[in-house]
Parts: sequence; structure tokens; C-alpha cells
Amino acid sequence: MGNVRPATMERITTPALAAKFIDEQLTSLRAQIGDKKVLLALSGGVDSSVVAALLIRAIGQNLVCVHVNHGLLRKGEPEQVIRVFRDEMNANLVYVDAIDRFLDKLAGVTDPETKRKIIGAEFIRVFEEEARKQDGIAFLAQGTIYPDILESVGVKAHHNVGGLPEDLKFELVEPVKFLYKDEVRVVGKALGLPDNMVYRQPFPGPGLGVRCVGAITRDRLEALREADAIVREEIGKLPEIPWQYFCAIPDFQSTGIKYVDGKGERYMGWAVVVRAVNTVDAVTATVPEIPFSVLCAIRDRIIATVPGVNRVLWDISEKPVATIEWE
Ligand code: XMP
Repeated sequence: MGNVRPATMERITTPALAAKFIDEQLTSLRAQIGDKKVLLALSGGVDSSVVAALLIRAIGQNLVCVHVNHGLLRKGEPEQVIRVFRDEMNANLVYVDAIDRFLDKLAGVTDPETKRKIIGAEFIRVFEEEARKQDGIAFLAQGTIYPDILESVGVKAHHNVGGLPEDLKFELVEPVKFLYKDEVRVVGKALGLPDNMVYRQPFPGPGLGVRCVGAITRDRLEALREADAIVREEIGKLPEIPWQYFCAIPDFQSTGIKYVDGKGERYMGWAVVVRAVNTVDAVTATVPEIPFSVLCAIRDRIIATVPGVNRVLWDISEKPVATIEWE
């Protein structure tokens, strides 16, 4: 099969069309794979999750899912991957706690592109090590989708096999490679994946690593993770959900004041930046109006519960000239 979506392929817009696609895929996946084993890097994003759910149906335990926790995932993500895939779908899931490895490698590194390179390279290394522990792998599954093929600069470099050594360059299994994102979501829903996985906002491969601005420290990263969970929860309640909404945490501190026994004490704390954007293609982005009451609710929860943070800022910068991510 080439890399051009067949002209006859119907757009998958309904549960019935998704069910038909799933049936066809199960047949062709079983024919392609037989009784061999398949390896998949399962990030928990919608694309790799849909591929995992399809392959679990097609070949069960012969799919080996590897979930690498690099310490830069959002709050609750690794737990959800384990719950949905290992506990509910009985997947053959290898969970790799690589948090220390990644954070040790990133310690003191301030340049954004160097951080990305370290995260990407370390990811391949961890995945390679796990692949070598497995016997009889014949295929590598990937959540490539049609826009990844159309855009020459794939944002999935992070999860790609490109960096794997020759002896681990298995034949690829890419069951959703002709689907657009909205179609992947319809298929994910039909496969029974939870809504917060299926309708998940885009999340960069380097994860919170590019939102913990400058040199990542564990305490600032934890503050970011907690604040980000609050922002996602509060903005996620709006009737119109922005394309992306998240937090960044710059690497500076500013003065705060707290009152102890009626006496003001000054101290230094971090500022958390709330960001929400709308975009069609991520090339340009606008900032949606967020009700002031929602911003205040976010501020109050962050200040009350996230250690080390004494300021909450609302980023109203559009792209261009600001990029969506802070790094
Ligand atoms: P920027 O910040 O360039 O982001 O306006 C545009 C879109 O790309 C995402 N993004 C990334 N995705 N790896 C990814 O997989 C990356 O290194 C990366 N950097 C930015 C960003 O979240 C936005 O959706």
C-alpha cells in the first residue's frame, strides 16, 4: 500500500462507518500479522491509543505496548494508560518508569531545541532497550495519521522509529495512516476509548518539558503539572473548548507576600502562565475570550493548592508573533 489515501475511501463520520472501518482493519491486520508479535510505543495520545485498541482486538496479547513515562506527562496520564489498557482492555503493557533518566539528562539544560533533542533521543534509547527485552517481535505499530504523511515536517519525530538501529527496523503496521484526526476520534469512540482520551487536546511530544521554561527542576515541574491540571479542568468546563489550553512556568521568581499572625512576610515565588489558543493548522493562532470568573477560579485554586506559586498570568499573545508553546 502506498502513502496516498485511496480516492474511493469514504470519510468516517458516523459510528456505523467507524464500525465498518474497524471490521475491515481487523481482517487486514490479522492477515498481515498472523501469529507474530507487534511492538507499539503507546503514549496515551489519541492516535497511538486507537492503534493499540485496534491491535488488541485483532491480535490480543501478541501486541506489546510500551508506555514510557519520561516524567513530562500531564497529571494522571500514565495512570490512565495503565487503567484503560492494562486493567480494562487486558493489554500486554510494559510500563517504563524512566523519569529519573530523563530528568537527570535534562538537568541544567536551558536551550529549547537541545531539550527537545535530549528528550527525543532518550525516548528512542528507552524504547530500544525495551524492544531488545522482547522475543519474536516482527512488526512495529505506529499511530501515523494522514496529516503526518502530508506534512513533511512530522511532529511525531519523537515517537518515530527513525532513530532505531537497523536490526530493530521492523516492518511497519500503520492502521490509521489514511485517517484525518476527526476520523481517528470517531474510530476511537467506536472502540470504546474514554472521551478524555478521544477528544484530548494536542500535546507536544516533549510534553511539559517545553512548558517548564529553561532548565527543568523537579519542584518547578511538579508545580507546573499541578497548575496545568487545574487549568485543564476549569477551561474544560466551558461550552466552547479552545484548541489548546495549558500552563507554562517561566524560570524566574517574583515577590509575594503572606500574612502570618497579622504580619506581612515577603517571599519569592513562581509565576504560572495560563495559555489558551484557537487555530486551524497551528501556523497562526488567536486567543479566545475566557470569562474573567473562570480566570479568577483558576487563580484561586492555583494559589491555594500549588506550592511555590504566588502569581497567575494570562497570556494574550497571538501567533505570530508568539508561538503557541513558550519554548
Ligand atoms: P508552536 O509552539 O510552534 O506549536 O506554535 C505549534 C503546535 O505544535 C506543537 N508543538 C510540538 N509538538 N513536538 C510536538 O510533537 C514538539 O516539539 C512541539 N513543539 C510544539 C504545539 O503544542 C502546537 O500544537
